[in-house]
Amino acid sequence: MSTQRTLSIIKPDAFEKNAVGSILKMITDSGLKVVACKTTRMTVKQAEGFYAVHKERPFFGELTAFMSSGPIVVSVLEGEDAVTKYRELMGPTNSNEAPEGTIRQAFGTNIEKNAVHGSDSADNAKIEVDFFFSANELRGLLG
Ligand code: CMP
Repeated sequence: MSTQRTLSIIKPDAFEKNAVGSILKMITDSGLKVVACKTTRMTVKQAEGFYAVHKERPFFGELTAFMSSGPIVVSVLEGEDAVTKYRELMGPTNSNEAPEGTIRQAFGTNIEKNAVHGSDSADNAKIEVDFFFSANELRGLLG
């Protein structure tokens, strides 16, 4: 185990539910540290770029429309084994299968409106952090 960073997105459904504060509290209560954080909104084109790995999936159009449908909160989270730790805190992709204590159980609705996104590996975390944050926004924060 080592100190890692991961990229979190609080999605438009959770933002609309006024759940941003509660989700950030669940994150910090878990021991993860928020080292960068901002509210933004993706265009459809940006969402298509962010989720390019899913472009052949049947839900790609729905996914990119949903992710660009409203404001989001993007954060860089830091901590021991942060990628796995945050994925455990989020719960499974399908909110209907998410156990008690997870963000998706508390604030997700289904497989699409699932409240949050987290990077699936340390390598993808670097790519996803750079997608949302400029070098200046990360200045002094990331090794
Ligand atoms: P996320 O972690 O953001 O990564 C890809 C997203 O695609 C995933 O969360 C889900 O919200 C979404 N997704 C996965 N499977 C489906 C599906 N069958 N229908 C709609 N959206 C999906």
